[in-house]
Amino acid sequence: MDQVYIEDISKYVGQEVTVKGWLYNKRSSGKIRFLLIRDGTSFIQAVLSESDVPNKIFQLYDKLTQESSLIVKGVVRKEERSPGGYELSLKDIKIVQIAEEYPITPKPHGITFLMDHRHLWFRSSRQHSILRVRSEVIKACRNYLDERGYVLIDSPILTPAACEGTTTLFETDYFGEKVFLTQSGQLYLEPAAMALGKVYCFGPTFRAEKSKTRRHLLEFWMVEPEVAYAELDDIMELAEDFVSEIVQQVLRTKSKELQSLGRDLRALEKIKPPFPRISYDEAMEILKNKGIDFSWGGDFGAPEEDTISQCFELPVMIHRYPIQVKAFYMEPDPQRPEVALCVDMIAPEGYGEIIGGGQRTASHDYLLKRIKEENLPQEAFRWYLDIRKYGSVPHSGFGMGIERVVAWLCGLEHLREAIPYPRMLYRIYP
Ligand code: 4AD
Ligand code: MG
Repeated sequence: MDQVYIEDISKYVGQEVTVKGWLYNKRSSGKIRFLLIRDGTSFIQAVLSESDVPNKIFQLYDKLTQESSLIVKGVVRKEERSPGGYELSLKDIKIVQIAEEYPITPKPHGITFLMDHRHLWFRSSRQHSILRVRSEVIKACRNYLDERGYVLIDSPILTPAACEGTTTLFETDYFGEKVFLTQSGQLYLEPAAMALGKVYCFGPTFRAEKSKTRRHLLEFWMVEPEVAYAELDDIMELAEDFVSEIVQQVLRTKSKELQSLGRDLRALEKIKPPFPRISYDEAMEILKNKGIDFSWGGDFGAPEEDTISQCFELPVMIHRYPIQVKAFYMEPDPQRPEVALCVDMIAPEGYGEIIGGGQRTASHDYLLKRIKEENLPQEAFRWYLDIRKYGSVPHSGFGMGIERVVAWLCGLEHLREAIPYPRMLYRIYP
């Protein structure tokens, strides 16, 4: 295939190349016709002039509709005024298909319309940037953990019990048995950490969130490291280093995409350890000073998180929440058993919680007591309790939601654009 990708076009100045792609937009000016062509890697302006091509090629301009597929041949020229800095002087055009009237035109469209056409909306430059950043965030997460000796352990999707509370379970039928789509791989990672020391899982997770918010998806992707012998402070250190490295890698490789999204890069350049760490009680003080009425024992929602995050330029780690607002597996603080050795990381600029995690209880009897208190099916957790019988040790981990991080880095209002095919309340198509 003699095809050249537009992202590599600078290597071919002065040469005739073939580009295979789609028509993004077109315009004419006097005797010259401009085709804006995209091939997935980038965009290039192709110039069609009557004097350079046979008339029957020149006439094709009129036939070409938005998103028609085409293969063009042309000579690459450096052209400062052209978007991207290069231009193609066209010699030939082969139409692969004339597209029917394309529903997404360059004029603005409403969000419902765009979501209904998500499968086509991908073709716009804004979505290219977001999807590339997402791909890089995932690569950065995996690089970070792989390079540090974490073993990837794939956790199951079909599970017999809840990890993060029974109110957000998606139920499905397992040949007559009621099972659920996983809410988190954590319970399956803890045994793996006892076997392999440092492990992680990465995959889709599911929450039947019955409320419509801009920060909740029903299906989202989570990366979850889990470390044997790690305590709360160790995992907070890991979390801040992990997040910083991801942000810096994305800045190194995807600053062009972030800029095209209008993101303020300076805010992201500051994301380096150490991150501020405050206790739940200190966070309550902040809320009180800001005139927000909040009583001890409740969980922070979006308004509280946003108020707290406004006080910091870096992600803030809030630790030691009341036991009752956190999951059953949390280790209580030995100094203050009414709080859990847990941590949530809240992104700056109002992007909400990006990480949740902490230290898991190492005690068999305490875990069993918590399972009973939460009315969880004891039988389904028998294997999980085993981990506390055979060489139980302190261990900790966290989960980071990929879409929340992508939304933060790209500066997106809503998580729906941070995942290729969002699953939301009342939305299963496309
Ligand atoms: O705080 P969560 O519920 O923690 C857990 O699931 C732990 N078991 C993880 C662990 O310790 N291994 O979820 C972790 C993160 C949140 O901080 C958030 O980034 C993301 O997952 N998240 C969601 N993202 C999008 N839509 C939702 N409905 C989300 N729920 C959680
Ligand atoms: Mg959480």
